[in-house]
Amino acid sequence: MEYFVKSGQPEKQRTNCLIIPVYERRKLTESGEKLNKECNGKIAQIMRRGDMDGEFGQMLLLHDVAGCLADRILLVGVGKERALDISRYRKLHKMVLAQLGKTGATEAYSYLTELSLKGRDLYWKVRFAVEACEEHRYRFDVFKTEKASDKTNPKRWVIDVGSRRHLPVGESAVKHGQAVAIGQNEARTLANLPGNVCHPQYLAERARQLAQSHPNLEVQVIEQDELERMGAGAFVAVAKGSKRPGCLIVMKYTGNKDNKTEAPIALVGKGITFDTGGISLKPGEAMDEMKFDMGGAASVFGTMQTVLALDLPLNVVGLVAAAENMPDGGATRPGDIVKTLSGKTVEILNTDAEGRLVLCDTLTYAERFNPSYVIDMATLTGACVIALGHIVSGLFSNHNPLANELLSSGEEAADLAWRMPLLPEYHEQLKSPFADFSNLGGRPGGAITAACFLSKFTEKYKWAHLDIAGTAWKSGAEKGATGRPVPLLAQFLLKQAGLAN
Ligand code: BES
Ligand code: MN
Ligand code: ZN
Repeated sequence: MEYFVKSGQPEKQRTNCLIIPVYERRKLTESGEKLNKECNGKIAQIMRRGDMDGEFGQMLLLHDVAGCLADRILLVGVGKERALDISRYRKLHKMVLAQLGKTGATEAYSYLTELSLKGRDLYWKVRFAVEACEEHRYRFDVFKTEKASDKTNPKRWVIDVGSRRHLPVGESAVKHGQAVAIGQNEARTLANLPGNVCHPQYLAERARQLAQSHPNLEVQVIEQDELERMGAGAFVAVAKGSKRPGCLIVMKYTGNKDNKTEAPIALVGKGITFDTGGISLKPGEAMDEMKFDMGGAASVFGTMQTVLALDLPLNVVGLVAAAENMPDGGATRPGDIVKTLSGKTVEILNTDAEGRLVLCDTLTYAERFNPSYVIDMATLTGACVIALGHIVSGLFSNHNPLANELLSSGEEAADLAWRMPLLPEYHEQLKSPFADFSNLGGRPGGAITAACFLSKFTEKYKWAHLDIAGTAWKSGAEKGATGRPVPLLAQFLLKQAGLAN
């Protein structure tokens, strides 16, 4: 779909369909009032018949209204003005697109940007409009013999920005919205792919493909045998339980043309392409969802796509710890002791706590880039789902300013995170009689002890960890990856590049 920003009189738009919001109790916005006036009160008259009260989600399609150049007018009930938030605003866009899909309209002109959204200016209304439309258009049907057609979606979506002087802001909002949507949808697709297709080598190949079409992206894949020679004993302890070798994927984006050696921001993703639990085998129920255990890696790929689409003037390193956690003959046994890349030894008490094992070596590896910040994303613990549910991602950090930046980026992008404690007291739970520490902290505070484990490997830089176990995918009827936290990360990077509003 193509997006355009424009400012114009509603009655003068030669379009397939005008989208006009109506608040509760038939209250029109400015454009609605204008349109009504130009059409001799026709809109108000039709509403009085009782087919449109402005209740949230109500829709009424009018054809060939005299005095208006558009083929159709879609009146959209948006409910109470004060109840209107981003989530309702996004829903409205999806409902409108679904409604348009039932008509022959191939383009539309929307005045939904006229709605007042608390704390959001025009930039955000345009950006969220684009993101919502792209989210609605997303399909994952590579494995369906019969594909749903895209015919039902309009080809052109024109967004009104109220005034000519707002056109530049609107244009940048469209650009940012599209780039975030590209990244988020890329993350969704990678995470939705099943484990038999999306394995470590598949991810490596995807990275190489990206590098081929982008000259300022350099990709290096460190294969499992090399990881072993390097001394990444924790990473290899996970990967060697599978016939499919694991690998560490390094994507180096040099976008700061003025300062190619500027300290990069490192994004690290847990890329367990399937998590059986290993020898500490998981129970069978819902195990299929462990194909999503590379959601962190998917968000690194997705965010990289956003960065590339916007050509952000930043240096970013993406590091993906790709492995499959399987109970094959080479698998690690509970009680095995391994030496990590940092030199510290770990007693692996539970092979299902594998995410922290691949991540700890990757986090050590990140040191060599002298990063300004390191942010890791991981579907790390079931305990995080118990603590925070599916609404916010868990945020842990050893640096308050970085934590605060990420929290506000999440609020701005409507992709929330919530800070959790990283206190020295929790380290007690990782004590081991045989090694420097164990990989298991027990049930109390499981998300925190997992983060504590990682923090032992991130002392040399400013670091944040996002536990996305509850937010990276949805279960049940709407099963599928969400592409979170790409919007949060993209917003953080836009701000680092000085481009965000
Ligand atoms: N990938 C899982 C975490 C997970 C489980 C995410 C369920 C989302 C839903 C992770 O590798 C894992 O198995 N963690 C264990 C850790 C435990 C053994 C300390 C867990 O959460 O049970
Ligand atoms: Mn696991
Ligand atoms: Zn896992």
